[in-house]
Amino acid sequence: MDAHPIAGSLGAEISGVDLSQDLSDSVIGEIRSALLDHQVIFFRDQNLTPQRQLAFARRWGKIHLHPFMAGMPDCPEVLEIRKTPDDKRNFGGSWHTDQMFAPQPAMGTILYAQQVPSVGGDTMFSNQYLAYEALSDGMKAMLSRVRGVCVGDKKRGGVSRMDYNAATIAMKTVEPPKDLQTTSMHPLVRTHPETGRKSLYIGSHVHYLEGMTESECAPLIQYLRDHSVKPEFVCRFQWRNGSLAFWDNRCTQHLAINDYPAETRVMHRVTVRGDTPF
Ligand code: SIN
Repeated sequence: MDAHPIAGSLGAEISGVDLSQDLSDSVIGEIRSALLDHQVIFFRDQNLTPQRQLAFARRWGKIHLHPFMAGMPDCPEVLEIRKTPDDKRNFGGSWHTDQMFAPQPAMGTILYAQQVPSVGGDTMFSNQYLAYEALSDGMKAMLSRVRGVCVGDKKRGGVSRMDYNAATIAMKTVEPPKDLQTTSMHPLVRTHPETGRKSLYIGSHVHYLEGMTESECAPLIQYLRDHSVKPEFVCRFQWRNGSLAFWDNRCTQHLAINDYPAETRVMHRVTVRGDTPF
């Protein structure tokens, strides 16, 4: 197995692995090391049914079912992300890290390209270790005491996510479970449970900061959002049919670029559950 970095910030293309096979523990161990070293890893020319993608995802932990979007009818753990020329908005089109509104947000996400546009539809990733390390000591000390209020079911301005999605994308939405916790508080600086490194934990789910008024926290949230995706922290992945990305949500953000208005893009996504951020 070889890893070739695709940028100075994060991201590496892995060669020499066929993810459709039953992989040995030692190969899974090598993939884990590559993920921890590069934060997001990419595999080309894979040939995966939804069931095989799910089998690979299960090697990393329990699977997270999306609370607002319907999974595939014959494989509900797999979410088909589809955008056609009729859709103006795309799914995942703002900088975020997955399931931040949950008490135990996603550890990792595995995204597989079924049909990509002839040009465009890339995904960008940002390294949140680097974003944290670039802050001043004063800012690091201040943020170390602050928790973000992460909201899952409301867009800013109070529109429900279900209504917003139903009105703007063709993907099928579902009514979330009644007992779903859709707001959680997490530290703005989190420690990676495997590497021990600190990273900035910010994204579009962070609407407020604990103990601050909206007018106090809004400029700080905006500053951190802008800071966290500076070009020097970012890589950009160009998909081909059969490409697969596996990213670590505990130390990255990502954004799906919406720049292919006349074409269709279809991806299969499986999300692995994580633990409580600290
Ligand atoms: C996502 O945010 O999970 C979607 C990313 C993509 O479609 O590139």
